[in-house]
Amino acid sequence: MSHQKARVAVNGYGVIGKRIADAVVAQDDMELVGVADVVNDWRVRVAVAKGYPVFASTREAADSMRAAGISVAGILDDVIQQVDVVCDATPKKVAAANLEKYRAAGIKSIFQGGEKHSLTGHSFVAQANYATAIGRDTTRVVSCNTTSIVRTLGALKDAGLLKKARGVLIRRATDPWESDHTGVMNTVVPETVIPSHQGPDAQTVIPDLDVVTIAVVAAHTTSHLHAWSVELTRPATKEEVLAAFHEAPRIAFLRATDGVVALNSTLEMMADLGRPRGDMWEVGLWEDSLTVKGNELFYNYQVYNQAIVIPETIDAIRALIGIEKEAMASIAKTDQALGLVRRFTL
Ligand SMILES: NC(=O)c1ccc[n+]([C@@H]2O[C@H](COP(=O)([O-])OP(=O)(O)OC[C@H]3O[C@@H](n4cnc5c(N)ncnc54)[C@H](O)[C@@H]3O)[C@@H](O)[C@H]2O)c1
Repeated sequence: MSHQKARVAVNGYGVIGKRIADAVVAQDDMELVGVADVVNDWRVRVAVAKGYPVFASTREAADSMRAAGISVAGILDDVIQQVDVVCDATPKKVAAANLEKYRAAGIKSIFQGGEKHSLTGHSFVAQANYATAIGRDTTRVVSCNTTSIVRTLGALKDAGLLKKARGVLIRRATDPWESDHTGVMNTVVPETVIPSHQGPDAQTVIPDLDVVTIAVVAAHTTSHLHAWSVELTRPATKEEVLAAFHEAPRIAFLRATDGVVALNSTLEMMADLGRPRGDMWEVGLWEDSLTVKGNELFYNYQVYNQAIVIPETIDAIRALIGIEKEAMASIAKTDQALGLVRRFTL
């Protein structure tokens, strides 16, 4: 594999799948063999317009796609014969049912955070456990919120500063593309179970994290906001904490004093920076409001849910196939290709 490109298919060309496809195309050690889905509307027509071979995930979908005038390269069974790895970004339940199909085809598979840890027996965040994914046949890239928790608390832990962490997650109601048909309006809905699943989910990647999360859904589509209270192992300075976050990959600092005061300001800035779809792959952490009082730490950050797991998925491809053995080398390669930064202060 070392001199060949990894051959990749994406099944489920939705919010996550379409971004994975573009990110694969941006890597010089990967080739996008095709994308698969079941719809026949503008979503797959954009894939056709981009020149991506489009496959139908089912035979019925192939018929309806052809009837709609979409050029279909084959069905899912065909494309998985031609690849080393499939990134499955289909909805919950659909994805889980595909694992045996991928195993039978002898290919590697990467699932997303809507699936349970038990499906793959391995949950992935590149900076935390890349090495344990090398050579496996399957893994699950954890959800957007869980990815952010592992990145940030993992950074504090690696610096020897983390004792325990308690976080409140204010979640977006729905993704923008589907806000015509789903999502709460004019209310805030607390989840009925505490801890919410994200804390325990982070423990599937870093088992000894002392973390509790409380989640609420709010009536907006502009990504998630986290508010954290952390007990440190010792009194520390703000500079030490910022250095710990800076040391870890994929955390970038925001400053309210620059006018970046809310979720919408950040997303406007991403669009103005010319990022694809206005994506922010980094955890956007407010540097100026971060506060340390003795051994207590408080901070806010933004999770752009539609994009944060994309670089992790690219690293998971390299890890499963084993074309790069070093986590930091893969992370650097991915981040260079996509254009991640460490600070949004312009
Ligand atoms: N949306 C987010 O912010 C986000 C963030 C992180 C992780 N995830 C996870 O990513 C996964 C995908 O979520 P999403 O938001 O991209 O969903 P989505 O609804 O935007 O996309 C899913 C795609 O799969 C297609 N599909 C449906 N049935 C299919 C089938 N049988 N075969 C092939 N394709 C089929 C749909 O047409 C759609 O294009 C889920 O596990 C989700 O939890 C989502």
